[in-house]
Amino acid sequence: MKRVLMIVVVLVLAVSAAPKKPYDPSLPVLGTTFHALPAGTGRRLVEASCLPCHSPDILVQQRLTEKQWTATVDKMIRWGAVMKDSDKPAAIVYLSKNFGVTNTFTPAKTRPVGY
Ligand code: HEC
Repeated sequence: MKRVLMIVVVLVLAVSAAPKKPYDPSLPVLGTTFHALPAGTGRRLVEASCLPCHSPDILVQQRLTEKQWTATVDKMIRWGAVMKDSDKPAAIVYLSKNFGVTNTFTPAKTRPVGY
C-alpha cells in the first residue's frame, strides 16, 4: 500500500514538474509564407532565382543597401542560386528598391514545427 502511495506521489510530482509549452500554439508554424513579392521589374527574376530555397519573407524582412544586396545575391549564387550574370543588375535594383534601408515590415512571429 505504501509503495502504491509512493508511486502516485512520484507520478503527481512528475506531471506537475513537466515544462509548460514553450511556444504559443496559436502562432503560425515556422516556414509559413506571409508575404508575396511586390510587383515590379525584376520580380520574376527574383522569384525564379531566390524562392526555390526560401520563402519571400526572408527578402521582405531586410533593409539592405544596394551594395549589401549585391553581396547577398553573390553569396546566394555561391550557395547555389541560379541567376544569369546579365540578370543580376535588374534583380539587385528590384531588391534594393523594395527592401532598402527605409523598408518597413511587420516581423513574422512563428513557432517551431512540432510545438
Ligand atoms: C540554394 C539555396 C538558396 C537560394 C537559391 C537562395 N538562397 Fe538565400 N539563403 C539560403 C540559405 C541556406 C540561407 C540561410 C538560412 C536561412 O535563413 O534560411 C539564406 C538566407 C538568405 C538571406 C538572409 C540573410 C543572409 O544573408 O543569410 C537573404 C537576404 C537571402 N537568403 C537572399 C536571397 C536572394 C536575394 C536570393 C536570390 C538571388 C537567394 N537568397 C537565393 C539559400 C538560398
